[in-house]
Amino acid sequence: MSTKGLPKTAASIRSAAVIGSGVMGAGIAAHLANAGMRVLLLDVVPRQLTAEEERQGLTLADAKVRSRLALAAVARMAKAQPAQLYDAAWSTRIKAGNLEDDLAALGDADWIIEAVVERLDVKREVLAAIASVRRPGTLVSTNTSGLSAGAMVAGLSEEFRRHFAATHFFNPPRYMKLVEIVPTASTDPAVAGLLKEVCEKRLGKGVVIAKDTPNFIANRIGSYGMLVTLEDTLAFGLTVEEADALTGPAMGRPKTATFRMLDLVGLDTLLHVVDNVRERSEDAAERAVFARPPVLEKLVAAGRLGEKSGAGFYRKVKGAGGSVI
Ligand code: NAI
Repeated sequence: MSTKGLPKTAASIRSAAVIGSGVMGAGIAAHLANAGMRVLLLDVVPRQLTAEEERQGLTLADAKVRSRLALAAVARMAKAQPAQLYDAAWSTRIKAGNLEDDLAALGDADWIIEAVVERLDVKREVLAAIASVRRPGTLVSTNTSGLSAGAMVAGLSEEFRRHFAATHFFNPPRYMKLVEIVPTASTDPAVAGLLKEVCEKRLGKGVVIAKDTPNFIANRIGSYGMLVTLEDTLAFGLTVEEADALTGPAMGRPKTATFRMLDLVGLDTLLHVVDNVRERSEDAAERAVFARPPVLEKLVAAGRLGEKSGAGFYRKVKGAGGSVI
């Protein structure tokens, strides 16, 4: 096996690219930039102008519009950063763009992280696009919550697959210590070792190496806990606030223990995670546990995705405002 072109050490990783500038991609990009890497943050091209863009006389061809999602993500992160946490210049190291116009620039990255929606078909498409331009030796990882990392790269070249693994960061990446690294059957041990080194030494994370099983380790336990708490909350007629108080500080856990955490994670993302275990499980009892909770489906159908859409289980995600159940 050859890992020709692979950065020699964690310190030699100078530039990174993150595809998908949502909740996680934006947070990961900021964390990498704070570690001194140059970061290219890409998302999709918007297909419609906002009212504000129309008012400004912009068109769909303007770079500002085409890169709107990634630009907004950097601004969002800048607002969310407690000034004392990151160095003053982190955001200057991020260049925002879109996958359509900036695809070729991925050839300059030492490490490319895919952080698009939790759908195997979309991830496979994005990884194939990355494979078409990436330099041999470049590290590629997926931030999937628990889809099969191996299935994502099936059909791509052996060289690509050797340099690919999952690096599963937790939300929010600037605070959460854990990264699960999930090598596939094709990942070169030197690649897994380098990803572990960069996460530990450059990004200050604690790494657990997990197997490529549905939802890996932490989310399998975590999503199960969330589903059971949701079921009990409904069964006992508790409010969301009461359940958060009971499962949070009362148990020595943070205030964001359950429903505030779900609003942070994204309700649509939890549905994808739950579907992933159920659809891949051969155990009927497990499939029943990981059924879609109707209340979650209802909220997602109503566009209440959590913090990213302004409301989720809580009517207003930030501050007071009451809850849904
Ligand atoms: P999100 O919904 O906030 O963001 C996804 C982003 O991907 C959106 O900005 C979307 O426009 C973009 N996107 C979709 N298709 C694309 C494409 N073809 N090319 C480029 N960009 C595309 O989702 P979130 O929460 O950031 O999740 C991203 C990944 O991270 C998922 O795999 C998720 O399971 C995983 N994850 C999520 C966590 C969470 O707490 N939300 C925690 C850990 C992992």
